[in-house]
Amino acid sequence: MSTKYHKLRVTNIIKETPDTISVYMQQPAQSKIAYKPGQFLTVLIPMGGETVRRSYSMSSCPHTDKELCVTVKRVANGKVSNYLNDHLRVGQELEVMEPMGSFSLDLRPVQRHVILIGAGSGITPLMSIAKAVLRMESSSIVSLLYGNRNQDTIIFKNALEELQKQYANRLRIVHVLSQPNPGWNGLTGRLNRTLAIKLINELPKLDVYRTDYYICGPSGMMEEMEQALNILYVPKEKIHKESFATTPSADTTPKPVEDDNKEVKTQVVTIIYEGSEYKVKVEPHQSILDAGLDMDIDLPYSCQSGLCTACRGKCISGKVLMDEEDGLSEYEMKEGYVLVCVGHPLTSDVVIEID
Ligand SMILES: Cc1cc2nc3c(=O)[nH]c(=O)nc-3n(C[C@H](O)[C@H](O)[C@H](O)COP(=O)(O)OP(=O)(O)OC[C@H]3O[C@@H](n4cnc5c(N)ncnc54)[C@H](O)[C@@H]3O)c2cc1C
Ligand code: FES
Repeated sequence: MSTKYHKLRVTNIIKETPDTISVYMQQPAQSKIAYKPGQFLTVLIPMGGETVRRSYSMSSCPHTDKELCVTVKRVANGKVSNYLNDHLRVGQELEVMEPMGSFSLDLRPVQRHVILIGAGSGITPLMSIAKAVLRMESSSIVSLLYGNRNQDTIIFKNALEELQKQYANRLRIVHVLSQPNPGWNGLTGRLNRTLAIKLINELPKLDVYRTDYYICGPSGMMEEMEQALNILYVPKEKIHKESFATTPSADTTPKPVEDDNKEVKTQVVTIIYEGSEYKVKVEPHQSILDAGLDMDIDLPYSCQSGLCTACRGKCISGKVLMDEEDGLSEYEMKEGYVLVCVGHPLTSDVVIEID
């Protein structure tokens, strides 16, 4: 499938918290953009003579909302999140790529328990998934464990209360605040491993194979949630994760590979994309994506940090080293998939097919 771009008109901007906005965009009149709950849009912003791309999960749900909506929280010194919060106006057009991402679910006519665990802006894809399950799976139940600093930083506070009223018997929401303002009657503390185990044990129980977990939040919190689910013997295939950022300490310099004593050196990689074959010379300091973009090949990409899978390709020959492997599942890795934005060729025969 070739990369598709759309220009969407901003119809409304809602301030969710002092540092977070929701941006509503009109669906194109002719061919509506199809997406699955939990997927993200890539936004392209012209800035300082270049076009920068950022991924934003849709907080809207294809089954309940007419318009598309992304919700953007400011990141300290962040270029795009602050630009959007400060300067985006109703009526403006935003260029976006087709929705992507595998942090989603297929709706099913059987009863199940969908447990959503999030913190901060991690609520965005979880909101979309919650709305979809509650609307489309009439006997399924949804639980949300949601961590924030205080009452003022809870994104979608009112919308969550509304959902809770509408689906009182099927939706349970547990807020956990680390530094609540006076008057808070809920849980206080950090949504850590110990608390997660306690809270999950208190939730209604369904068969382990009819319970799905979706986690999205800061990397430390996500690691603790995974540990909690491991302790609770949750099968790996029932745990779905979305990361918005890499761990700050992640060292992305390609390292020598010890097992076969090969180092990352200049290699020519064959990329097969949209029916064409390209020979791309990749230097040690470059990722395969960088080298392809330098040759003006219009390859698909979004986060450029191994998180979103927009640049996923299948390595059908040779060996590729990835700086960051968290974006791919074990199954995808076994099947030979690689993320070219963090990939470096290790052998001279690398061929990658990008779909
Ligand atoms: C699949 C996916 C979905 C995403 N969905 C959302 C969403 O729904 N809402 C949302 O607000 N953001 C979301 N993000 C994060 C978003 O894409 C940007 O990374 C974020 O807005 C920061 O961009 P920036 O240009 O402001 O910061 P940059 O200028 O890129 O970065 C500035 C500094 O902040 C650090 N940083 C970057 N991102 C984060 C982060 N998320 N948390 C903490 N530190 C960070 C960088 O390492 C850098 O040091 C998503 C990311 C991915 C990969
Ligand atoms: S561009 Fe996001 S994983 Fe490569």
